[in-house]
Formats: sequence, C-alpha cells, structure tokens
Amino acid sequence: MQENVSVTVRVPAKVNVQLAVGGARPDGFHDLANVFLAVALYDEVTVTASDRLRLTCSGPDADQVPLDRTNLAARAAIALAARHGLGESAVHIHIAKDIPVAGGMAGGSADAAGALLACDTLWGTETSREDLLAICAELGSDVPFSLVGGAALGRGRGELLTPLEVGGTFHWVFAVADGGLSTPAVYAEFDRLTEGVAVPEPEPSPALFEALRTGDPSALAAALANDLQPAALSLRPSLAETLRAGTEAGALAALVSGSGPTTAFLAKDAEAATAVAEALIASATCRTARVAVSPAPGATVL
Ligand code: C5P
Repeated sequence: MQENVSVTVRVPAKVNVQLAVGGARPDGFHDLANVFLAVALYDEVTVTASDRLRLTCSGPDADQVPLDRTNLAARAAIALAARHGLGESAVHIHIAKDIPVAGGMAGGSADAAGALLACDTLWGTETSREDLLAICAELGSDVPFSLVGGAALGRGRGELLTPLEVGGTFHWVFAVADGGLSTPAVYAEFDRLTEGVAVPEPEPSPALFEALRTGDPSALAAALANDLQPAALSLRPSLAETLRAGTEAGALAALVSGSGPTTAFLAKDAEAATAVAEALIASATCRTARVAVSPAPGATVL
C-alpha cells in the first residue's frame, strides 16, 4: 500500500440562521438552539509528515492566525494522536485561509475539523465518525458542525447535532469588519445585558425549519434570529451602520453572523447578492464584502 505523503481537506464557513441563547450554565457555557448553515467559503488544510508539529498559514489575514499549539488545528492533531496512542504528532499543518479570521464564521473550528480529518487520512487511523465527532466536540462547540456541514440544529452548547433538510440554494453576502471579536467577550456581554432578566430556554423555530426545507429566501429572511446580536452591537456599535447599508441596498434581511463582527445579508438571488456586495463595499462601512451560497458540504478530502 502506498502511503499518503500529504492530504488536503477543504472545509466550509458557517452562518447561524438562528442562534437562541439561554442563561449561563454552571460550567460557564450557554445552552443553545443553534441552527448552523454551511456556506461555500472555504479554508483548505494540508497536512504533511514532518519531524515535529509545525503550523503555517497563507491568505490575506494569515498574520492574525496564531501558529503555536493554541491553534485549534494543532490541538486537533494532538488530540487525534493521543486517541490512537501515537505520541508526538509529527505533522506539518498548512492552512490556506479564506474564511474571515475571528469573524463569527467558525474559521478556527473549520481548521480544527479539517486538520482532524486530514491527519486521520494521512495516518490511516480510520477513526469512526462517532469518535471524530467526539474529538470535535472536545475541541470546541462549533467544530462538529464544521465536520458535517450542510445544515443542522445544534443543542447543548451547540455540539449535539441533528441534520436539517435544505430545499434550495440561498445567496448570501458577508461584510467583513476590521479586526475580530472574541467569542467569550460577546457571551460575557450577553450575560451583562441580560443580568436580572429571566432568559427563556432556547427553542428552535419551526418557521425557520420550514423556510430551510422549502428553500424560500423570503421565509428564511423573516425567520433569521441571533440573540448574540445586541451583545455584538454593544461591543462594536459601528456594525449597525453596516447592517443598515446592506438593508438599504436591497438585502432581504441582515444580521450579525454568530458572535460577529462579520455581518450576513440574505439576498433574493445571485444578482441581488452582487448588488448588495457592491453597495456594501461602496458604503465603506466594512473592510470588504464576499458573496457566497449555502448550503455547502462539510469537511471533504480533496
Ligand atoms: O466552545 P468554544 O471553545 O468555541 O467556546 C468559546 C467560548 O464561547 C466559551 O469559552 C464560552 O465563553 C463561550 N460559549 C458559551 N456557550 C456556548 C458556546 C460558547 O458561553 N454554547
């Protein structure tokens, strides 16, 4: 059998079409009803046998990506090696980055899922899907979804997934902000804003499921919801201007993507998405704007 010398995995970004957030749990996490939709913006993770664990990154925002063992992709390789008793994970991980960094689009989670699947393939460890998902959940709440892609409801802290049917293609525009937002900081701001308020149990929206199932963009626009949006806007008030610029340019709906600061705009079709992206760039309320469709497949070996 010929050994693989290098393996590349392509892995998608996500947008949360519903992010219902409950009160803080004793472990500090929040119970969620988190409806993930994978979008066709991809990072590519390439792993190659090496004498030691090494990480490199290319792409426009590469300088913002940590290249030490705190990087989730490195932690994924270490976790997989530990699971199989392989000792030191001697591998070079290269991330070709296209997903906005620290943007609320699960770029770091995507790289973790990508590195995990790539190392499993490179090392021939043949980890079961169930075990891969368990390792993903240990790495982070959004990592299991990056592995499976498509659309899914995430319960618990977002790691307990139920796949959802999507009956069409949705056209999105993502406005990339200058600088990132820290996810823990946004959740802490959510806690501050809801202090003394009885936060209801997060419940998924049947109208949203129906909109995904029928592929109807207007119905999806009406059902989009993100409980982290007030917290993201409180930390980054200028995002309100970006949301307004996209709405005025004809987006069916606008919302903060996950914990932000990327903002997401749903358009009626490809042409409308291009017009919204051009208007957002012209408005100078964001660093750049990207058009992307959904759903997209999960982590895939190329
Ligand atoms: O799971 P992950 O490491 O991605 O979470 C990052 C941070 O986001 C957590 O440390 C926590 O502060 C917050 N978080 C949360 N509730 C969740 C998911 C994340 O409070 N369901």
